[in-house]
Amino acid sequence: MSLPAFLTALDALVAEASRSLTTVGDVEGLEELRVRFTGAKNGQLKSIQKIMGSLQADERPAAGKRFNEVRDAVQLSLDEATARLQSSPTAKKSQGPLLDPTLPGIRPRLGHLHPITQTIEHLKEIMGRLGFTTTEGPEIEDTWHNFVALNIPEDHPARDPLDNFYLATAGKNSVDPAAPDAMLLRSQTSTVQIRVMEQRQPPLRIISLGRVYRPDAADATHFPMFHQMEGLWVDRHVTMSQLKSVLRMFATSYLGSDVHIRFRPSFFPFTEPSVEVDYFWNDNWVEFGGAGMVDPNVLAAVGYDSEEYSGFAFGLGVERLCMRRYAITDIRDLFRSDVRFLRQF
Ligand code: DAH
Repeated sequence: MSLPAFLTALDALVAEASRSLTTVGDVEGLEELRVRFTGAKNGQLKSIQKIMGSLQADERPAAGKRFNEVRDAVQLSLDEATARLQSSPTAKKSQGPLLDPTLPGIRPRLGHLHPITQTIEHLKEIMGRLGFTTTEGPEIEDTWHNFVALNIPEDHPARDPLDNFYLATAGKNSVDPAAPDAMLLRSQTSTVQIRVMEQRQPPLRIISLGRVYRPDAADATHFPMFHQMEGLWVDRHVTMSQLKSVLRMFATSYLGSDVHIRFRPSFFPFTEPSVEVDYFWNDNWVEFGGAGMVDPNVLAAVGYDSEEYSGFAFGLGVERLCMRRYAITDIRDLFRSDVRFLRQF
């Protein structure tokens, strides 16, 4: 081959490479062009390079110089095409519009409040209408508020370490329930009765909703953590008939329809007399908690004059109320964090 023919072939190659590489629209096409021009075995550059050997010796320097320029130009066009296709995602799959406005949208999945939290808000709202304000107390308690001030003596079974989550005393690795500074996860919200009465003078009309802890094995009706609603009304001339009216109005509001209520005689150290509270619901008497008239010893523990003031208190299980209302049969479902279950409420 003559030198002019060789140079013409090189010009044709660089022109074709530049044209096809600036218009190629997808990565597959680009790969084909790369192989066609720069392929190590049968690429066009390779073929032309082989021809160089048949040129006159004095023609080779000029041919080699031009060959190198063309090879670099083809490589540059390849690099530019690669960069262009990488920065443009649509070029890869070039069919169809970017956005199809006729497709249904993707709904954002918003969360919502846990059924127990919803129940707590609902109970607060009902009791608020009956004049009860909401208070809170700590979940880590001392034995004064959890037991002593509530008239629960040292030898009472409710204080058994096997029935409570006592905490290891600070600095020590052991648990001593009898120590004056013993602490525990509260086993009842009745603690808040004491905390409120210590800080305020009658008249008082409060509720407190929150978690309580007991080392029960979990089954369909027990869980080592659950919630209670505590209520307390202290004033002059508070009576048991008011207790019954408040609990009945509450149940009628929460469970709907006209709910009958039954008091069964019972015993709690902090109330006298004490009752278990049952509601007649779906043809059954169902126990929802305990109640009674605040024991004079409790009033004395917080410095109230039990000759002047009387009060009633009650404690209801929040899970039980929530489960009855929504026909939930296993308390563990509430705390499994399975959104397929929780999404229903
Ligand atoms: N604290 C009791 C419990 O956890 C429930 C209770 C009963 C609360 C009677 C009260 C009450 O306020 O008067 O079993």
